Amino acid sequence: MVKICGIGAGYVGGPTMAVVALKCPSIEVAVVDISHSRISAWNSKNLPIYEPGLEEVVKQCRGKNLFFSTDVEKHVYEADIIFVSVNTPTKARGLGAGKAADLTYWESAARMIADVSQSNKIVVEKSTVPVRTAEAIGRILAHNSKKGIKYQILSNPEFLSEGTAIQDLLDPDRVLIGGNDGPEGHEAIQKLKDIYANWVPEDRIITTNLWSAELSKLADNAFLAQRISSINAMSALCEATSAEVSQVSHALSKNTKIGPKFLNASVGFGGSCFQKDILNLVYICESNGLVEVANYWKEVIKVNDYQKSRFVNRVVTSMFNTVSGKKIAVLGFAFKKDTSDTRKTPAIDVCKGLLGDGACLSIYDPQVSEEQIQKDLSMNNVEWDYPIHLQPMSSTTVKQVNVVSDAYEATKDAHGICILTEWDEFKAIDYQRVFDNMQKPAFVFDGRNILNVDKLRETGFIVYSIGRPLDLWQNMPQQA
Ligand code: UDX
Ligand code: ADP
Repeated sequence: MVKICGIGAGYVGGPTMAVVALKCPSIEVAVVDISHSRISAWNSKNLPIYEPGLEEVVKQCRGKNLFFSTDVEKHVYEADIIFVSVNTPTKARGLGAGKAADLTYWESAARMIADVSQSNKIVVEKSTVPVRTAEAIGRILAHNSKKGIKYQILSNPEFLSEGTAIQDLLDPDRVLIGGNDGPEGHEAIQKLKDIYANWVPEDRIITTNLWSAELSKLADNAFLAQRISSINAMSALCEATSAEVSQVSHALSKNTKIGPKFLNASVGFGGSCFQKDILNLVYICESNGLVEVANYWKEVIKVNDYQKSRFVNRVVTSMFNTVSGKKIAVLGFAFKKDTSDTRKTPAIDVCKGLLGDGACLSIYDPQVSEEQIQKDLSMNNVEWDYPIHLQPMSSTTVKQVNVVSDAYEATKDAHGICILTEWDEFKAIDYQRVFDNMQKPAFVFDGRNILNVDKLRETGFIVYSIGRPLDLWQNMPQQA
């Protein structure tokens, strides 16, 4: 029986290994993590991450061929193939701080693998890493391993999106496997290919050299983020000219050369990947003397930051140039719907902007805990990347922030509502009831363009929605 060990039981490692176990009943899959709390959650009824469909997959395999454990060494020792899905946040300090990837976790995983292994292993990079990480990891393994033990390193980047991870894993567009040239490299690629071939059609499994696979992942995320920044840049122009960004997106989407996805204007993109990977790309370009290329990709992040501050400015200027002492309801805190993840969520910057102007926030998100929201709002930017159990404990709570358990409570007596995540349940709210219980004039700022603007205006709200013609009210000279 082939044994697989997955190091890192996070958003990538957990769902990926669970689907491998589901689709390969003859393979034993052990998912290991240094975090005891994460592993005990994986072994309990309340999984540590919220992901539609995940619970069913875990229930089906756990205890049969899927195991969650903190005994990292034992499972690495026993495994033939090791998937590494540890976190690779942006470096907080030192050389490349704020841009380069922090490979501390990766390096310590590699050293541990070298330490405990007594047989040849295939080591698979799952976490996004800077180009040529495999080379560095290969060196660590080669210089620390026991005599005669050979490692083959493969890059098999994960393309799943949170919120649809299980669907993405079950039916991927493509699986990318990068490996070394030469017979041993090819043999390793084939072994990994054989695993995926259990459920992925062969023509969707692409093989490349190691560096192309590593770079493809960064390029993939940079292209997707660039599309969002492009449509968000258009949204600002739409507001200035009374064009409608959804109509522009629709027109663009019908061009088969462009296609329909990733054209929704929003308050800005978030998530653990886009910003981190672009910063990584920028750092690699700069390190190679490619200043113009680095600057080109930096603009994608700058437009994203601009979009978030534009939103805050719009809220403040619409509400008579101040939100000081006013209650603002924030609906949604996760970086997108159907996830509890808040890493790099635009809600953090928007809330901090509003708090900076003295607002009192009443926040409701169906999946994000009060503890997480308080942590996110009291932490430095660089710390957001880390999973909650690796984040520094902060005793500060932001006093002007109240986290509540439903949308009606959040909006009661509020002056304005900001929609920051596109949760489906926000579309089904009784906005007449909400309006009746709010201060007047009552404002809605829809950062995700999910609400029916005309209907809200009929109810009496003053509505701002990204990239749409402004209410007469807002159409006065503004700084936004
Ligand atoms: C992303 C990539 O899609 C995935 O391929 C990669 O492997 C990991 O990073 P993820 O971060 O889970 O996945 O979420 P994604 O669906 O890409 O959304 C990222 C952000 O962009 C979210 O904040 C989302 O709300 C925003 N977004 C997305 C938009 O603002 N507009 C869009 O049209 C699409
Ligand atoms: P991602 O979104 O990339 O999956 P997460 O932060 O959710 O990232 O998960 C990464 C996981 O890797 C964390 O749970 C962390 O505890 C774990 N981890 C980090 N370093 C190691 C290590 N050396 N050995 C085992 N687990 C590790």
